[in-house]
Amino acid sequence: MKKYGLFINGKWIDSSDGRTFETINPANGSVLARFAQATAEDVEKAIDAAQRSFSTWKGYPAPKRGEILLKAASIMRVRKDELGELVTQEMGKIIAEGLGDVQEAIDFLEYISGEGRRLFGETTPSELPNKFCMTLRQPVGVVGCITPWNFPIAVPCWKLGAALVSGNTVVYKPSSLTPLCAAILLEIFDEAGLPPGVLNMVTGPGEIVGRTIVEHKNVKAISFTGGVDTGKDVYLRAARSLKRIGLELGGKNPQIIMHDAHIDLAVEGVLFGAFGTAGQRCTATSRLIVHKSVYSIVLEKLLSKTKALKMGNPLDPLVDVGPVSCEEQKQKILNYVKIGIDEGAKLLCGGKQLSAGDYQKGFFIEPTIFETQHGLRITKEEIFGPVLVAIKVKNYEEAIKIANDVDYGLSASIYTSDINTAYRAIDDLETGITYINAPTIGAEVHLPFGGIKGTGNGTREAGTTAIEEFTELKTVFIDYSGRLQKAQILD
Ligand code: UN1
Repeated sequence: MKKYGLFINGKWIDSSDGRTFETINPANGSVLARFAQATAEDVEKAIDAAQRSFSTWKGYPAPKRGEILLKAASIMRVRKDELGELVTQEMGKIIAEGLGDVQEAIDFLEYISGEGRRLFGETTPSELPNKFCMTLRQPVGVVGCITPWNFPIAVPCWKLGAALVSGNTVVYKPSSLTPLCAAILLEIFDEAGLPPGVLNMVTGPGEIVGRTIVEHKNVKAISFTGGVDTGKDVYLRAARSLKRIGLELGGKNPQIIMHDAHIDLAVEGVLFGAFGTAGQRCTATSRLIVHKSVYSIVLEKLLSKTKALKMGNPLDPLVDVGPVSCEEQKQKILNYVKIGIDEGAKLLCGGKQLSAGDYQKGFFIEPTIFETQHGLRITKEEIFGPVLVAIKVKNYEEAIKIANDVDYGLSASIYTSDINTAYRAIDDLETGITYINAPTIGAEVHLPFGGIKGTGNGTREAGTTAIEEFTELKTVFIDYSGRLQKAQILD
C-alpha cells in the first residue's frame, strides 16, 4: 500500500513521531493509502519553510506565477480521467461528479492564472498638482489553507490557486478523509514547477494540525471551508493574532417552486440539487418550498423519480447516488432522520442505510424526503446528506419568509415563469448566490462564491474577488512637484 509523508520544503518527509493514519474508500471500506500524521512541530517546520521561501516567490513576476498554475491545469487536463476516479474512490461522489470536481479545479486554475497579468490596482488623480496616486496589490505572506472533503480537488485549487498567483506561500491542510487527492495535487503542482517551500502540505487532525496553523504568529491569513462549529473556532483563534480570515461554512439551501413554474424542470432541478453528491455540498438543496397549488403534483413526480434513483458503486456510470463520506457522517445523517421522525415530520421515502450485500462495507443512505412544517430542527439545521424536507406554502411571501428563516445564507433557487417574481426573489432571498430556474448547486468558477449570515464572514472565493482574501492593498502617493505639498491644508 502506498504511503505518503508530509510535503515540506519540496520533499516528502515522515512525521517526527512516526504516526500515521489511513484513508479509505467510502463505497467499500478498502484502504487506499497511509498518511503521516503531523505533530505541531512538523507543522511549524512547514510554516518555517513557507516563511523562508516567501521573498523568492513574492519576487517572481506575477505572470510567471500564473504560468506555473496554468501548467498545473494542463497536467490535470491530461490526467483528468485518473483524477476523477481518484476523487470518486476517496470521497464517494459518482464518477460524473468526480470528473466535474477535477474540471472545476482546471477551470479555476486556468482562470486565475490570468490574474498574474492583472492583479489590478487603481490610479486616480491627486488633489495636488504634479502628484500621482495609485493602489497596488501585495501578497499577505504565509497563508494557511484548510479544506474539506466534499470537493477534494476543486476547493483546494480555489484556495491554492488564488493564494499562489498573488505571491503568497502556503501551508495546506486537507481533510483527513481525502489526503490522497491532496497528495496527488501536490505532486502536480510540484511537477508544474513551484519552487520548494512555496506550497507545503501537512496532514493530520484539525485539533493539532489545523490549530497550529491557525494560531501561529507567522501565518498571516487563513482560508477555511468546513463546518460551522469548526469555522467559528477557527475565527476566534485566528482573531487573537488579527489574522485575515476567509470562512465558507454551511448552508440550508431552499428551492422554491411557484405555481407558474415549469414543473418537470423544477423537479429535475431539486433531484439534482438535493441528491447530487449525495447531498454533501454546501450548496445542496435541503429544503423544497412549494406553492400549494402545485404541491401534490410536484411531490408525486419527485417521489417517483427519487425512488428510481440507482444507488451503488460510484465508479459505475449508471449509478446516480454513491455513499456518504464516512461512518461518522452516516451516523450524523441517520440521527437527523430519527430527529425528524421524533419531531413528527412525515417520512415520504428513504431514511434507511443500505447495509446488505454489496453495500455492507460502504456508507450508503437512501435518498430521503420528509414532508413537514417549517420550524423543526430538520428544516433549520445543516444535515449534509441526501435528506430533503418538503414544505407547502400559500404564496410568494410565505415562501420567502420561510426561505430566509434559517441561520445560513449560501444558495437559493426559485422556479417561476413570471419575470417579476424572479426579480423580486433576487431582491428578497437572503443568500450570497441566487438561482432562477436552476438548482442551488453548480456555481461557475469565474463568479464570486460565498454566503451571508451563518455561512461565513463576508469573504468571497473564486471570481474576480478570489484574490481579495490573499492580497493587501497598498496605497501609493508619488509627488513629482519638487516641493513640499500639503494635502488638505491651504497654502
Ligand atoms: C462546496 O460544496 O463547498 O456550486 C462547493 C457548487 C460547486 C461548488 C460547491 N460548484 O455546487
